Amino acid sequence: MERTLSIVKPDGVARGLIGEVVKRLEDNDLKIAAMKMIHMTLAQAEGFYAVHKERPFFGSLTEFMSSGPCVVMVLEGDDAIARYRKLMGATNYKEADPGTIRADFATDIEKNVVHGSDAPETAAFEMGYFFNSFEIVG
Ligand code: CMP
Repeated sequence: MERTLSIVKPDGVARGLIGEVVKRLEDNDLKIAAMKMIHMTLAQAEGFYAVHKERPFFGSLTEFMSSGPCVVMVLEGDDAIARYRKLMGATNYKEADPGTIRADFATDIEKNVVHGSDAPETAAFEMGYFFNSFEIVG
């Protein structure tokens, strides 16, 4: 049993894709162990993506992530990190496998609808960034 962090990004929320993402999670046995809607400040988005702070897209990414509400979730299941990444598809939607969330809905390498942790260490940091232990059930 593993846990990972999922975000429906501001583009996904604005385009009415929360339900679509949640349906795909539930259809694929990724249990939602925590869920809330947030609107990050720029500083909060910068803290979340601190690992990317030297990258050229950092300013644009953090502005985008603080531009509107997001839905953040903790997902639970066997091999949840890898299975959720497979459901999302590649970061660049042009390289995402057909039938993945990003292949079906992303419009841009940045506005790619969803985020998912890429390893157990990042999952632990990212879940702790948004949720305390009382907010995660299961
Ligand atoms: P995410 O999985 O949230 O991780 C970092 C985010 O940076 C990524 O999705 C995209 O939204 C954004 N991004 C923008 N440009 C790039 C890029 N060239 N390479 C990787 N990520 C990018």
